[in-house]
Amino acid sequence: MNILIMGMGYVGVTTGLVFAELGWQVTGLDTDTRKVEALSQGKLSFYEPGLDLLLQKHIASGKINFISSPEMGIRQNDIIFICVGTPSDKDGSADLQAVRGAAQSIGTFMDDYKIITVKSTVPIDTNRKLVEWVKESQIHPHPFDVVSNPEFLREGSALFDSLNPDRIIIGSDNEQAAIVIQSLYDSIKAPVFVTKPRTAELIKYASNAFLATKISYVNELARLCESLEVNVTDVTKGMGLDQRIGPHFLKAGIGYGGSCFPKDSMALLYTAKEQQVELSILERVVAVNNSQSSHFLNIWEQKIGGFSGKTIAILGISFKPNTDDLREAPALSIIQQLQHKQVNLRIHDPIAKLPEALSSDMVQQFETLEITLQQCDAVILCSEWKHYREADWLQLRALMKDYYIFDGRNTLNGQEMTKLGYAYYGIGNR
Ligand code: UDX
Repeated sequence: MNILIMGMGYVGVTTGLVFAELGWQVTGLDTDTRKVEALSQGKLSFYEPGLDLLLQKHIASGKINFISSPEMGIRQNDIIFICVGTPSDKDGSADLQAVRGAAQSIGTFMDDYKIITVKSTVPIDTNRKLVEWVKESQIHPHPFDVVSNPEFLREGSALFDSLNPDRIIIGSDNEQAAIVIQSLYDSIKAPVFVTKPRTAELIKYASNAFLATKISYVNELARLCESLEVNVTDVTKGMGLDQRIGPHFLKAGIGYGGSCFPKDSMALLYTAKEQQVELSILERVVAVNNSQSSHFLNIWEQKIGGFSGKTIAILGISFKPNTDDLREAPALSIIQQLQHKQVNLRIHDPIAKLPEALSSDMVQQFETLEITLQQCDAVILCSEWKHYREADWLQLRALMKDYYIFDGRNTLNGQEMTKLGYAYYGIGNR
């Protein structure tokens, strides 16, 4: 079986390479010819640990190739995965233009039976609409089936997650098509749940919204811990030992970001509104996340005696470590809030680059931690790169003017930092 992956973004490239690694013959399709050229030369347009090596390995093995012609891709492959983007519209709904475009291409060029599988995160009923979109574009009525197969990988650990998933969800009205898609994953050990397409679509949104709920719950709890002078990390450690709660996604911080949680929570709220159902918990989850960084900035501002006129290092601007993705990164919101207070900001990230639109005389990015921290009054740590945990903070202290550390991810050892002479403040963690 040959597999076509439509959309060479983050999910598409990872999915294609994982199928190549599992032994399948894969073609990656993107209408952006520059992207196709770069991928054909083994170059990724984003950073993801291990993926570049896998790309080079499978270009060499001949298991993957990249093309920009939908006609060729669709005619030559029996199984098609749609992995195009579904960004948020202004009203929070998911923009399905790219999914519709992919469906129309498939309808136009298919000349044989196809299994069309949707990996993109799409609102409830999109799989059903997809059938209509394909049919409308068909010149000759060739048969096809549509399968929903949502993706659960995390950026920064995409390969590990794809090869070791907690579960494989397959939604289809056609038993045979579901069996074919399931067989692609035969060499992966994971529970497979075959269900209806609508259910599969909702499982994806409900899972992301639930994880976001866990995070906002502990983030709000961290605000209470801050007042009570109780360490939130110890509280969540104790909570996580209860198997019904579990230890994951209980890490308090300056809020969740990225391409999924913010977008998917808004899309689920939009769907609920359409159905005239109130998801009041999820509404609060989003609100808590939107105010988490300003809540802690206010507390830290009191500690340092006002931010205005200070020089502050912002460490880690990506939405989490091991990625260069800045989408919905809490660090960017912190930078904007501090810009309004006339703070001199010195930015550092091991990989991510500060967007041009945010940089100015007062906001500059530097290559090394040593240069970044020169003459700073304070450090605000926004994503928990290993780089920062392993830094020589004694040596770095000598470069600073004052010694405040505001740890937005509770990732440094507070006691050690205090011993080194820093005034250390975390999130709900004195
Ligand atoms: C998420 C889901 O985990 C994944 O299953 C889905 O397919 C896509 O969305 P991702 O956005 O790549 O993956 O990263 P994730 O590790 O889930 O982190 C998301 C955000 O939550 C990050 O900003 C992270 O810093 C934050 N987070 C995570 C916390 O603040 N606390 C936690 O305990 C966990």
